[in-house]
Amino acid sequence: MSQVEVLRSSVTFDFDIDIFTSCSPCSPSTLSASFPREKRLTNALVSELLSVPSHIVRAEEDDEEEDVVVPGLPPVLRGHRDVHLRRGVMKAAELATENEPDAEKAFYVADLSYVYQQHLRWKKNLPEIEPFYAVKCNPDPYVLRLLAALGTGFDCASNGEINQVLSLGVDPSRLIFANPCKATSFIRQSAKAGVDKMTFDNTDELYKIARVHPGAKLVVRILTDDSKSLCRLGLKFGAPLVTVPALLAKAKELNLDVIGVSFHVGSGCFDSNAFADAVMRARAAFDMGKDAGYNFTLLDVGGGFEDPTFEATASVLKNALEEFFPARENLRIIAEPGRYYVAKAFSLAANVIARRAPPNSTEAAWSQETDTDSEHPTVMYYINDGVYGAFNCILFDHQTPQPYVLSLNGSFHVPSTVPLRASSVWGPTCDSIDCVCSVTQLPSTLQVGDWLAFDNMGAYTVCAASQFNGFQVSKVTYTTGGEHGKEVREVLRSFVA
Ligand SMILES: Cc1ncc(COP(=O)(O)O)c(C=O)c1O
Repeated sequence: MSQVEVLRSSVTFDFDIDIFTSCSPCSPSTLSASFPREKRLTNALVSELLSVPSHIVRAEEDDEEEDVVVPGLPPVLRGHRDVHLRRGVMKAAELATENEPDAEKAFYVADLSYVYQQHLRWKKNLPEIEPFYAVKCNPDPYVLRLLAALGTGFDCASNGEINQVLSLGVDPSRLIFANPCKATSFIRQSAKAGVDKMTFDNTDELYKIARVHPGAKLVVRILTDDSKSLCRLGLKFGAPLVTVPALLAKAKELNLDVIGVSFHVGSGCFDSNAFADAVMRARAAFDMGKDAGYNFTLLDVGGGFEDPTFEATASVLKNALEEFFPARENLRIIAEPGRYYVAKAFSLAANVIARRAPPNSTEAAWSQETDTDSEHPTVMYYINDGVYGAFNCILFDHQTPQPYVLSLNGSFHVPSTVPLRASSVWGPTCDSIDCVCSVTQLPSTLQVGDWLAFDNMGAYTVCAASQFNGFQVSKVTYTTGGEHGKEVREVLRSFVA
């Protein structure tokens, strides 16, 4: 038997999709009432959709309210993110039956109520520190709208980001241009736009700013220990403390107003103590400011906040502030969190578009279809988003996304007893660097047409995705299905740009 012959045909989905395309909340009663009995009985997918745990749909059942619609943007729906992942799969099946090009394209589902919950969590744990969301992490239009409505500030790295935030009607005083090395034209533009707060870490930057934005409110970015982080930003930015006195002397000579100190412990910081060390260094920089004739009033503790360690980091930070800035009534403290707000808010669904045996595999390994060696994949799956798209986070952000099975052989039900097989997962482009998972355990029956999903896809993903090889950037379906969904929709509705 050749390796090609063992491939089964792709899954065809046989159900009426119309009832699922409605934006109304998905509840078992509304679904079964509008679905023909024969189809209900024969359709595994429908019963699987209905099997979404009741707590997921119950909260929205009696809700008659409209979805949020912002002109020019997709609607913000209701319902749990899992429901929308499944709806997307079924919609794709419907489009495929209509021979729609790219019917099975990959898609994100973003639950904006997660962003909202993170904001509440921030306020609870760090009430003294104002978050300035790092736009670079995910400049999604709804994420920005929601955070603008909630009153956060914004950390922008370029004119493009500044314009995007200002176009929402956010006052320029709520922005910090937190890129220590800026093009002169960008600095000039930010002066025109009224964005005054900006960071620097070198003398040339001071000369540029003195020339085109002499009224800027400057923040010296200091170098801190970033060795406990996934992305070490100190390789590129941050003035070592020994250089700070000379930098401040130059700023004074140029008649520039330095108002404070910033740092970044590195993105994806896995040791909260890095923040304590950084605050200690910031204290030293404040003292240098005094020696140079400045009276600093701003401390920017940067980004690097992680979802799982947030409370621990907040506690370390508060203790460090107590120790090194005990009298801080005239001190404004801001932060530049990115990943913290959005990482978990986005999931990605991707379709298995191809399957083959690894080049070096034996006939026996391929046809066995069971896991003989968990380290060496015996099957390669190709999905329709990869490292040139959403999974650029593997290359740029040192992430290791893990797939789970969204649909298997036409069903959303994946039996726990299904045998697993060491598999690799690849993106759709013709480049061999386009590997999403070099080895992972997936059901041995997974085949072309099935769907994989990935959680934690909100940070440093869609923002850096390219269209290499002509593959489009995956689109986002928005929902507010998590806790506080109703409040989130009200906040979005009441925000008038
Ligand atoms: C200047 C600056 N601020 C904030 C951030 C956001 O960091 P994180 O997403 O780790 O919170 C970054 C990320 O690169 C950054 O460069």
